[in-house]
Amino acid sequence: MEPSLELGMPQKERAREGERRYSDISELPGVGPATVERLREIGCSTIEALATATVAELEAAGIGEKRALELIDLARKSIEISWVTAKELASLKSNVRHLTTGSKALDSLLGGGIETQAITEFFGEFGSGKSQICHQLAVNVQLPYERGGLEGAALYIDTENTFRIERIEQMAKHLGLDFDSVAEKIIYAEAYNSDHQILLLEKADRIIKEHNVKLVIIDSLTAHFRSEYIGREMLAERQQKLNKHMHRLLRLSRAFNLAAVVTNQVMARPDEFFSFNAVSPVGGHIVGHTSHMRIFIRKTAGKNVRIVRLVSSPHLPEGEVLIKITENGIEDAEEAEVKSR
Ligand code: GTP
Ligand code: MG
Repeated sequence: MEPSLELGMPQKERAREGERRYSDISELPGVGPATVERLREIGCSTIEALATATVAELEAAGIGEKRALELIDLARKSIEISWVTAKELASLKSNVRHLTTGSKALDSLLGGGIETQAITEFFGEFGSGKSQICHQLAVNVQLPYERGGLEGAALYIDTENTFRIERIEQMAKHLGLDFDSVAEKIIYAEAYNSDHQILLLEKADRIIKEHNVKLVIIDSLTAHFRSEYIGREMLAERQQKLNKHMHRLLRLSRAFNLAAVVTNQVMARPDEFFSFNAVSPVGGHIVGHTSHMRIFIRKTAGKNVRIVRLVSSPHLPEGEVLIKITENGIEDAEEAEVKSR
């Protein structure tokens, strides 16, 4: 069972006397269709998203500062994210759940699996298996908690048109899941360019809520940005857009207690790593710690075997494990398999 104290979910049972909880933005006092529309345009069509918005964002949508503060405050009160004591914070964090990758070794490297309320980035060169992992996670998220799932749906933003439903079918069958119902719970969109990608995420909150989405995938996070923002003079703009995009993703992950997974293609040479330093605590964060896990995947001589390295995590030690990509999906690999072809 899901713990009752879930971050970002309306907690009517915990409502204090005389303090109204709103479950939809249209219920907020003084908010008419025009304001609803303005809020939608900046990606706040749910109370959860509004609660994690900044005053500056609302101001940009033509809402005055005082009113913006009021609305954000009402939204926050509606979902219980204001000041909390350290003890309460501990119980909020205990809501963090883990999604299995399919490999026990990788799960334990990650402290139990891919965390909710955080962004996990898989980076590595072409063919290293980033998209395969995304496919696997989109299936695994649907598993019951006892099997390492999150009992939810996946939102899949595909930027390179590499999503393959046949692969989902193979993986679902291997797990004994009904393919049709698995396919129904993968909500897919292809992003045609970086602006479209940004927009898809900005409009995602309602879908997330309605479909109980517990995993948001962006595969690839960086490909469009790289091909569109070329050269030094565009670098700052690219970083700024990427940072904002990542902040949006992080906020969704916290508001809905979901796992966020992004991929990033890099050259094999470590000095050419594309660094985007995406998630810095600029403000508007609910829980004040930076949540960005970076995982490097590389190929080995063994055709199906990959070395997966946890490169940086806010709270876990670095380390590496072996996985393999088979018909079944992502699985544990043995040392001996590294060299076998
Ligand atoms: P880019 O998107 O190009 O950066 O690569 P990527 O890291 O996303 O690689 P991807 O996840 O597409 O991995 C492709 C590799 O996965 C292939 O080269 C195969 O080794 C493996 N793979 C994909 N499908 C299967 C399959 O059905 N069976 C097996 N055994 N391996 C597969
Ligand atoms: Mg890929």
